[in-house]
Amino acid sequence: MSIRNIDSFTHTRGESIYLDDIPVIAGTLYAAVFGSPVAHGRILKLDLAEASAMEGVVRIFTYKDVPGKNQIGGIVPDEPLLAEDIVDFNGMPVALVVAESQEIAHAAVKKIRIDIEQHEIITDPRVAQSKGQLLVPPRKFKIGDSDTAFKQCRFVFEGIAETNGQEHLYIETQGAYAVPAENNAIKVYSSTQGPTAVQKHMAAVLGIPMHRVEIDTTRLGGGFGGKEDQATAWAVFCALAAWHLKKPVKYSLHRMEDMRMTGKRNPYSSDFKIGLDEHLKIIAYEATFYQNGGAAADLSPAVLERTLFHCTNSYYIPNVTATAYSCKTNLPPNTAFRGFGGPQGMFVIEAAIAKAAEALGVTASEIQQKNLVKTGDEFPYGQKMVSEAAECWDKAISLYDVQELKNDIAVFNASNSLYKKGISFMPICFGISFTKILMNQARALVHVYMDGSVNLSTGAVEMGQGVNTKMLQVAATVFSISPDKVKLSSTNTYRIANTSPSAASATADLNGKAVQIACEQILERLKASAAEQLNCNVSAIEIKEEAVLVNGRPSGLSWNELVLSSYLKRVNLSEHGHYATPGIHFDNTIEKGHPFAYHVYGSAVTTVTVDCIRGTYEIDAVKLVHDFGTTMNPLIDRGQIEGGLVQGIGWMTMEEIVFDAEGRLRSNALSTYKVPDIYSVPKELDIHFLETSNDNLAIFRSKAVGEPPLMYGIGTYFALRNAVKAFNPSSDIGFSAPMTPEKVLMGLYSKKENK
Ligand code: MTE
Ligand code: HPA
Ligand code: MOS
Repeated sequence: MSIRNIDSFTHTRGESIYLDDIPVIAGTLYAAVFGSPVAHGRILKLDLAEASAMEGVVRIFTYKDVPGKNQIGGIVPDEPLLAEDIVDFNGMPVALVVAESQEIAHAAVKKIRIDIEQHEIITDPRVAQSKGQLLVPPRKFKIGDSDTAFKQCRFVFEGIAETNGQEHLYIETQGAYAVPAENNAIKVYSSTQGPTAVQKHMAAVLGIPMHRVEIDTTRLGGGFGGKEDQATAWAVFCALAAWHLKKPVKYSLHRMEDMRMTGKRNPYSSDFKIGLDEHLKIIAYEATFYQNGGAAADLSPAVLERTLFHCTNSYYIPNVTATAYSCKTNLPPNTAFRGFGGPQGMFVIEAAIAKAAEALGVTASEIQQKNLVKTGDEFPYGQKMVSEAAECWDKAISLYDVQELKNDIAVFNASNSLYKKGISFMPICFGISFTKILMNQARALVHVYMDGSVNLSTGAVEMGQGVNTKMLQVAATVFSISPDKVKLSSTNTYRIANTSPSAASATADLNGKAVQIACEQILERLKASAAEQLNCNVSAIEIKEEAVLVNGRPSGLSWNELVLSSYLKRVNLSEHGHYATPGIHFDNTIEKGHPFAYHVYGSAVTTVTVDCIRGTYEIDAVKLVHDFGTTMNPLIDRGQIEGGLVQGIGWMTMEEIVFDAEGRLRSNALSTYKVPDIYSVPKELDIHFLETSNDNLAIFRSKAVGEPPLMYGIGTYFALRNAVKAFNPSSDIGFSAPMTPEKVLMGLYSKKENK
């Protein structure tokens, strides 16, 4: 069964409800945050007088007004909700203005004065590391013995690779709406991927138990990781004000506030060293990752871990040493972003392979292909792989006639001097599960009403990825009823407790399995009830397309009748399902285990054309083969591939975050931060669904699809690089993403120093 996204009608009519569409209650007040104008320093004086005196300003809060703990750090308690005496990034919340309108709140923020004794500002992770400024202790993944192995390598190459951050740019900015409830409770609508994280921190800040905090989330206008942890602050601000003022308080951020005050994808600067034998087998690999974490840990330590997990991408390398530093800088705390550190690690190994290929006069694809991971190979973190890497690669080569593509490009490049084409291959391998084992659990609540309709609640948050549609499909499939009979409820901490955030691409697997478990239990009870009514054995009963069958033949009893009669017999028609991924474990004292339920594979071929006078370029085609397992919704999954790919291309080519030396964000609006539009997507996009059926823990064997396709975008970087090299073989272009047209132009006309 596959169905259209259940939100498509309300989306196209503009009827879908986002935070800002919730009708406000009379008397609602509006919040706005005053963020530090300085990236690092000590607060000497905070002058709220002029702002407080403004007409329509109700009250201004500081850390002194926090009744519980002034702390919202997710992994490490290093992030105050409101600054006390130290500020450590530009935009760090210092005061919270609450006014009768959003306009007044914003105007009042501008009237706040602050004196700050400025301290040294560090924005570069390598500088931070050299001064010992780390957010958490370094991590090291190791397999084999790279030191010894390098000595036996025929070829060894070293270099530096850098990737910049990325602004999430969800269409709906961060926001929340808090409504005080009776008996010291509070209800908060929050645009969050993690309702439980919001609930937990809100309870701690307000100094009340979690059972008094109800978080409700209908859907997000995009999250992309930016609302996994960083939706919390805004919701807690609203709650804090609502708590004191006993009035509803709303805050829906202006785009420029959101861009300035929230963290982004972690930029990385990395060193690599790669060693190969004469057959182009990679024998040894070393990488050192300097992650720009920003001013607080946020999710950076977990992101860092995933960089290590994915530092060899899709390749088997017997000797690897990978070291990673999470560096504390004076930038907004960086955070989760689609791929969660994986892309940053994969870029570095791809750079190492490109460097080796150029030096050896072979194509990168020769090295890539020879080193693809095989089933049974062990990755540096100890997991033995079940691999689809070669299947995806080989299928792409044959399906897309890659030899002919290469020939065409060679002919084009030989006959054109002002335009050059480039081609690249990008295999991907992405582990599915939260790397923190305990997070791999989920719950679902299923009610079958006496009229045969079904209501479903899960911990899954719909953010455009189509998870609600998949949840509905699971229930409809298990019961074998029409999808119209199933309705999803909002994600709510009073219905589903202790949820993991919707993240790690694992939402459909975890919550879907919980739905399946709950539905199967209800189904068992219904079948027993049917057997009793029809006077037969339970094993003879089957429910198919809303009809009760006995030994495969219609019994005359319908789903609706069975439900009603079961209710009349006092059969329990509700169930709460709990699922925890079996078989996964990881021991981080030795950095070994089996952390992933399974891996997702794929291979993309990218071709580009560079205008060698202007440095501008077009992406001619991306042709890819993706391992979907057995997709349960091809339309939604195709959408995830398209969106992920384009987001990856944006990160790799045009999205350029610029902070100045003072730690001020210069690319702070859509006029200075360019994201892909319809003109910058590939002119041709082929997606081949590779059906794989190796046993896995995906829901209905439909593999997770949310994050992996982003990493196909890395291929565009290397295709562009190859086009530049076709124009200027001695170009000193380095490995520094994004590959903006400016960088292409410099690369086209740069010369490598003869070493
Ligand atoms: N797709 C849309 N449309 N909007 C989003 O915010 N987030 C991505 C991905 N696809 C996102 C998206 C990220 S970062 C993740 S982790 C997954 O969806 C989360 O959803 P899933 O676990 O259901 O795949
Ligand atoms: N992915 C996404 N989010 C996470 C993870 C992960 O592996 N671990 C903790 N939060
Ligand atoms: Mo996605 S970065 O795990 O929210």
